Amino acid sequence: MVTEAQTIRSESRSATGPDRTFANRVLDVRDLRVSYQTPRGPVRAVNGVSFFLRAGERLGLVGESGSGKTTTALSLMRLIQPPAVIEGGQVLLDGKDLLSLSEEEMRRARFAEIALIPQGAMNSLNPMMKVGEQLRDTMRAHLDGESGARRDLRIQESLESVGLRPDVMQAYPHELSGGMKQRVCIAMGILLSPKVIIADEPTSALDVVVQRQVMETLGRVQNDLGASIILVGHDMGLMAQFVDRVGVMYGGKLVEVGPVRDIFKDPLHPYTQLLIGSLPTLQSKEMFKGIPGLTPSLLTPPPGCMFHPRCPKAMAHCSVAIPPLEEIKPDRWVACHLYNGSQP
Ligand SMILES: Nc1ncnc2c1ncn2[C@@H]1O[C@H](COP(=O)(O)OP(=O)(O)OP(=O)(O)O)[C@@H](O)[C@H]1O
Ligand SMILES: [Mg+2]
Repeated sequence: MVTEAQTIRSESRSATGPDRTFANRVLDVRDLRVSYQTPRGPVRAVNGVSFFLRAGERLGLVGESGSGKTTTALSLMRLIQPPAVIEGGQVLLDGKDLLSLSEEEMRRARFAEIALIPQGAMNSLNPMMKVGEQLRDTMRAHLDGESGARRDLRIQESLESVGLRPDVMQAYPHELSGGMKQRVCIAMGILLSPKVIIADEPTSALDVVVQRQVMETLGRVQNDLGASIILVGHDMGLMAQFVDRVGVMYGGKLVEVGPVRDIFKDPLHPYTQLLIGSLPTLQSKEMFKGIPGLTPSLLTPPPGCMFHPRCPKAMAHCSVAIPPLEEIKPDRWVACHLYNGSQP
């Protein structure tokens, strides 16, 4: 069986986005494999995912529900819970493999180097605890030597940078609007100035106006920190406006990665083509519309390409061999036998 790790070229040509240029890779994810161990067997939710994130870059991860986006996000942070198991791969943050750190080293890396704003974050705030206490808890776990006053100052700066006043610290979560709670979660994510911020559907529960404001805030704090961001979501319109590159997930695999404009203009993978084709306009706020056929079972995945049972361009070879994710032209990665020349 071919895995992406065997075929992905570890150092691509110096790739440049359409608008912004990025130097080194801050995060390099290689052949990440995560399964949920169920009584019926392993559910391969992340099945050999490889991608990189350049310093200062914004990468979107899109894909229909159940494609493995949240499992990927949680696994990068090593926050994935049983019955999930990280079965293999590397998550290199500035060259250091997070998957091989001790629990204690990983605990220190969280928030300080890589932070997650989890899916449904604003509903995960503790309803019984004032916002300030929750932020202090996060700080306490990291800055043991710092005085309380110094920590509170940092918390206030963080709140200010997401557009919240310091008196929010005295509030309970239920006293805040959805947008404000989401800002608290962003403030928590940036408390310790991480290099990488992962935001899992940060605006999905908010109305459109608040959504835009929260995204602007997220973009601004990311710029101020000089951090990179992975934005997980369904909303292609939001992706078009926010990210530099986008990765499309299908059935636990990345099927295409490239600059967001190129992907909209010239999608390569048949799945991406159907996805883009189902959007009325580039700016639309549409969620994914249905694509004919069923999403693949991750318990008993189809042989060969995960998408072949639904693919309008499937060839005989597609039900036999797994197409590796390859860079077929500068900064355009695709996992499809139409392009990789590996047909017999
Ligand atoms: N506890 C679990 N046990 C078994 N399978 C699970 C469990 N949690 C998630 N899965 C499976 O893992 C796959 C990936 O789920 P994940 O939550 O990562 O998807 P997602 O892309 O984030 O979806 P969404 O867009 O709905 O947030 C799904 O097919 C799901 O059924
Ligand atoms: Mg999810």
